[in-house]
Amino acid sequence: MTTEEKVSLLVGRGMKIPGVTQTNTVPGVGQTMEKVEGAAGTTNPVDRLGIPLTVVADGPAGLRIEPKRKDDKNTYYATAWPVATLLASTWDTKLVEKVGQSMGNEVKEYGVDVLLSPGMNIHRNPLGGRNFEYYSEDPLVSGKMAAAMVNGIQSNGVGASTKHFALNNQETNRYTVNTIVSERTMREIYLRGFQIAIKESKPWTVMSSYNKLNGTYTSEEYDLLTTILRKEWGFKGLVMTDWFGGKDPVAQMKAGNDLIMPGMPNQTKAILDAIKNGTLDIKVIDENAERFVNYALKTPAFKKYVFTNKPDLKEHASLARIAASNGMVLLKNIGNALPMTKKIQTIATFGNTTYDFISGGTGSGDVNEAYTISLVQGLEAAGYQVETELRTLYTNYIAEEKAKNPKKSMFQEFMNPTPRAAELTIDQDLFIKKAAAADIALITIGRNAGENADRKIDNDFNLSDSEKVLIKNVSDAFHAANKKVVVVLNVGGVIEVASWSHQADAVLLAWQPGMEAGNAVADVLSGKVNPSGKLATTFPVRYTDEASAKNFPGKEFREQAFSGMFGMKQYPAEVTYEEGIYVGYRYFNTFNVKPAYEFGYGLSYTDFKYSNLAVSSTIFGKKITATITITNSGKVAGKEVVQLYLTAPAGKENKPSVELKGFAKTGLLQAGQSQKITFTITADELASFNSAITSWVADAGTYTIKIGSSSLNIKQTASFSLAKKIVTEICNKVLLPQVEIIELKK
Ligand code: BGC
Repeated sequence: MTTEEKVSLLVGRGMKIPGVTQTNTVPGVGQTMEKVEGAAGTTNPVDRLGIPLTVVADGPAGLRIEPKRKDDKNTYYATAWPVATLLASTWDTKLVEKVGQSMGNEVKEYGVDVLLSPGMNIHRNPLGGRNFEYYSEDPLVSGKMAAAMVNGIQSNGVGASTKHFALNNQETNRYTVNTIVSERTMREIYLRGFQIAIKESKPWTVMSSYNKLNGTYTSEEYDLLTTILRKEWGFKGLVMTDWFGGKDPVAQMKAGNDLIMPGMPNQTKAILDAIKNGTLDIKVIDENAERFVNYALKTPAFKKYVFTNKPDLKEHASLARIAASNGMVLLKNIGNALPMTKKIQTIATFGNTTYDFISGGTGSGDVNEAYTISLVQGLEAAGYQVETELRTLYTNYIAEEKAKNPKKSMFQEFMNPTPRAAELTIDQDLFIKKAAAADIALITIGRNAGENADRKIDNDFNLSDSEKVLIKNVSDAFHAANKKVVVVLNVGGVIEVASWSHQADAVLLAWQPGMEAGNAVADVLSGKVNPSGKLATTFPVRYTDEASAKNFPGKEFREQAFSGMFGMKQYPAEVTYEEGIYVGYRYFNTFNVKPAYEFGYGLSYTDFKYSNLAVSSTIFGKKITATITITNSGKVAGKEVVQLYLTAPAGKENKPSVELKGFAKTGLLQAGQSQKITFTITADELASFNSAITSWVADAGTYTIKIGSSSLNIKQTASFSLAKKIVTEICNKVLLPQVEIIELKK
């Protein structure tokens, strides 16, 4: 290959954002036609050698492409799956793998080669604007879910892209922020999930992130992309930048960031110039191009796969519905308010969101689906009557509000998102009238967020005044009439629940459940599906209870403002992870801060008994197995998420009081039925990162296995001892912070 041909492979063909950018075509090398409209990017072909143009498209909740094309009567809708946070709340890796299989099938049948998914950054803070695209606050859950998703997607012969690598845990100043983190925290919390996913699923590609890590852009950081990802973890695939990420294309090439996306002509030029003037060794380009070619050879494009543009959307919708109902979390259920009994016929449904349900978040993680079933539609399809006066009021109000905000282009929406309409104000008399007429009240609280902005504390994490008033008025009126009140949370991330939930009889966390939303919620409310989701992220009492709250989203240096991408005003910024390893339950449990709902928590319509915990040995050799029996001790069939936590011996390292080391979901157990669950614990699970010797070490001493239904509800414990410490992994001393970090210690 000529040098020009090699370099053409390493810089994408650009991206058309109407009025902002143009497609980047390389004269004589590329084609000019885009293959799949609305895909995020394409890579350059080399026709002479049969290297095809390949297409990459978002995203974590399903394939994001344009559903309609000019002069074409066909439609190209994709399935909007439940968001990643909901999928993680299923704790069911088999189900997530199935979702991945169907998602990947749409990727292949619509002519795309790589799905830019899964997103797997850690929920460091509840305000993270893209948390809905990510799984959990815990690296084990994140890693296992991502691996299941990648295995599912890639079983189709298309690629996945684990993103955003790494330490991209906020949207504020996302293009500039320098994440300052200790070596141990980076390894244990923020890299561990990626490490698990790489090992267990071998994604074709990894997407580097926008942020800097201890001073260097991740896409320009050799030690992240080569020393750790490739040399330590054995990653053999392709690394691509996030869109317009990083600054210096030559540094990106040297770091092992093979592909620059979406690609701009000045980047190609910079690389070619550097080769010519000797500052970039052609060997670097050879290696990157070789990895690109290895990727291209695997693609459906290379194999000349004849895609149909006709995936089985009907079948996928029914799987999306099952997945959605399996990841909803029943937070509260007093006096058996749920499931709604046969006596319930008419439901008074309050809250704008009931009528305008949110299938998923905004930005590149948003899917162009054909429809979203609203909660009202779902309830009606399940045979309930929805009170008509309220329905008319809300429907008209929402239509009026929407008419005030004409549809913006994606880019305008991205720069300046349209706020959701304020809650409709309802007359006092109407609450009383409806409490007399209907059998039950249902209120939906909705939240949406996405790329480029983090959430706010007021009117977002916390309820707005009008929402609080709505809940109070409904609760007063319906409770006075001796009727129940159910609140449905249609949210992509954590919100405040502690101050108002006493006014509800039941609270169902429906997350953002994809296009079958209303049907899936109705399945759970009616009892057709017994809820079995559990929180993979803590719900704190107050925002300020979060250990990261003091350092989120960090500092920005306004006086150093500059004009960045597309003329956007940008500021240098930094955030220091002073909470260290104490993220989520690792903090709440260790420091005895009571959350509203803890990690691992979720109710069911039945009860489960845990018995007969047995460990294979009380002395650790190479591994230990722990077996426990789970019995459905209630009256209806259900599934239980069983969690194994470990308390390590108090060694020199600061250790969280418990850490999740295994989880499993039972099958659907009939009343009275039992299932035996077996966990295997290897030395890897005992180890934590010891910075003094740059290694993962399992310390000698006594370990306690704690098996329970949440991180605070431990049912059975057992101990074993490790006679001599084991070094499980020796790492390179790299990516150290340039400044001292005063980390939280217990
Ligand atoms: C996002 C990525 C996405 C890419 C392509 C970026 O803005 O951060 O997650 O895959 O755009 O759309």
